[in-house]
Amino acid sequence: MLTVRNLRVRYGRSVTALHGVDLDVPGDGVLAVLGTNGAGKSTLLRAISGTLRLHRGSVLAGTVHYGSARTDGLDPAEIVRLGVVGVPEGRQIFGRMTVAENLRAGGVAARSAADRAAAGQRVHALFPVLADRASQKAGLLSGGEQQMLAIGRALMSGPKLLLLDEPSLGLAPKMVERIGETIREIHAQGTAVVLVEQNAAMALEVADRAVVLNVGTVAASGPSAEIADHVHHHYLGVPAHERRSLARWS
Ligand SMILES: Nc1ncnc2c1ncn2[C@@H]1O[C@H](COP(=O)(O)OP(=O)(O)OP(=O)(O)O)[C@@H](O)[C@H]1O
Ligand SMILES: [Mg+2]
Repeated sequence: MLTVRNLRVRYGRSVTALHGVDLDVPGDGVLAVLGTNGAGKSTLLRAISGTLRLHRGSVLAGTVHYGSARTDGLDPAEIVRLGVVGVPEGRQIFGRMTVAENLRAGGVAARSAADRAAAGQRVHALFPVLADRASQKAGLLSGGEQQMLAIGRALMSGPKLLLLDEPSLGLAPKMVERIGETIREIHAQGTAVVLVEQNAAMALEVADRAVVLNVGTVAASGPSAEIADHVHHHYLGVPAHERRSLARWS
């Protein structure tokens, strides 16, 4: 269980990006975090994964706990060892390294060689294309394949909680669907997920619960069905009886 309380985050000396955010992620759930550009979604994930400092950000107030461990103030590697692993915005794979080398880099945090082998098998079962392309340079993969590699690399350390920052960004609808199904599968295998998305339709289909961030504060939180109503009402303006499916809102 991840618990965020009254989290305030600032970049540099003047930009306050989160103004007192509360968040609960159950150990066995998928939580969607929705919001428009600049809402603070990536900032929230950076605060959880301990990577704010890499972006000149800092926690001004509040706490992050994973289980009984307080994690704000820990460095990213320690947070990974606790089982919380992020896939950053824009994938950040190593383009000049091969697919296999990228996966190996993710596996260095695994607890044992046996864990690493099991994680490798899990990743290849989820994404057979990564086995087919093992010796190819990662930079040559398609956008969707690169996203699979980024998720696969994170899975190599055997996370209990996976943080995904806009995995559907820039992908064709078929690939977005595929990524959504994969997130469901990862969850079914026992990994909790925080899914940051601007694609509200996909995220709300995959997640049990959702929060909406709006300029650094939580504007709404609840079961996905309730949040779908909120999104329609506030962002799309479609009356309930006219709704068919959720569109991308940005
Ligand atoms: N490294 C940084 N330095 C200064 N300000 C930043 C930095 N990163 C983000 N911000 C600011 O913090 C606020 C929240 O940004 P954040 O990237 O968390 O939003 P987001 O919800 O992830 O947006 P997007 O959907 O565009 O990725 C914005 O006002 C943004 O300009
Ligand atoms: Mg972002």
